[in-house]
Amino acid sequence: MTDPTPSPRPRVLAARAAFADILAQLDTVADVTHNPEDRVYTPSELRALLADKHGAFITASERIDRELLAACPQLRVISTMTVGYDHIDVAACRQQGIVVTHAPDVLTETTADFGFALLLAAARRVTEAERHLRAGQWTRWSVDFFAGADVHGSVLGIVGMGRIGQAIARRAAGGFAMRVLYHNRHRLSAEAEQAAGGAQYRALDDLLAESDHVLLALPYSPDAHHLIGAKQLARMKPGATLVNIGRGGLIDEPELAVELHSGHIGAAGLDVFEGEPKVHPALLAAPRTVLTPHIASASIPTRRAMVQLAVDNLLAVLQGRPPLTPVPA
Ligand code: DGY
Repeated sequence: MTDPTPSPRPRVLAARAAFADILAQLDTVADVTHNPEDRVYTPSELRALLADKHGAFITASERIDRELLAACPQLRVISTMTVGYDHIDVAACRQQGIVVTHAPDVLTETTADFGFALLLAAARRVTEAERHLRAGQWTRWSVDFFAGADVHGSVLGIVGMGRIGQAIARRAAGGFAMRVLYHNRHRLSAEAEQAAGGAQYRALDDLLAESDHVLLALPYSPDAHHLIGAKQLARMKPGATLVNIGRGGLIDEPELAVELHSGHIGAAGLDVFEGEPKVHPALLAAPRTVLTPHIASASIPTRRAMVQLAVDNLLAVLQGRPPLTPVPA
């Protein structure tokens, strides 16, 4: 005999609006609360909206902490469209039996492109020069006009040699004849080092001392809080560039501003900030600094792919299948 009472459809919160055609796929299996105005919910609004939900589509702007989880006893899956998941208390989710998924791989090449764009823009003073021109200050040309540092043929130190770090290393060695150093929790295999432009492992202090440009491409964790502080900045070569496409909390921002003012750090290119969307006023006032609002993965095809993967993960878990890309154990 068939059960006459079909099991009720799961309830899902699509916490942000993005690519309605992709998010609409959720409507086929769940009762979805959408956010067509794309409001960024306050923590208490988010808690109230999630209180009766089984699943959630979120971005890096939605913080999932223990307090919120305590109010959401029915949650089964949280799917973030980002590769980073430091905005989610994964341990607390696991204790509550909630599956957490993220969106690796699909953004690797696009994010690596942007890391390189920031490196080039900062080292070659692109946005600073543009601001000068737009302000009507270009009245004469001079030999050292916005002269910066060379990128080609220089030494790039990559901190965080995951998928994105390796994609940057390939661009650096293959396209710009750079010598690539890297620091990572685990050393890569010889084959992987070869594929990453012949990248050579260094202890962090040695990488900082040897690199003309240092690029951070690692996730945030409490262990990595202010990984680059006053001591590390002092170890960097005079005139070196610092680029961050990882997470804001990796750099002590006021200390970086001090070193930019002193000229010890030649330039900085930052896409992520400790208190984003607020940016530390010291950084806003710092010279030779390119600041962008967390857009390294923001090409339309890649953002679509990230949202699609997040939706596929939600659908899989809600339909009783294993998630495609759970966060690593
Ligand atoms: C990510 O996917 O983690 C990017 O930083 C966008 O938040």
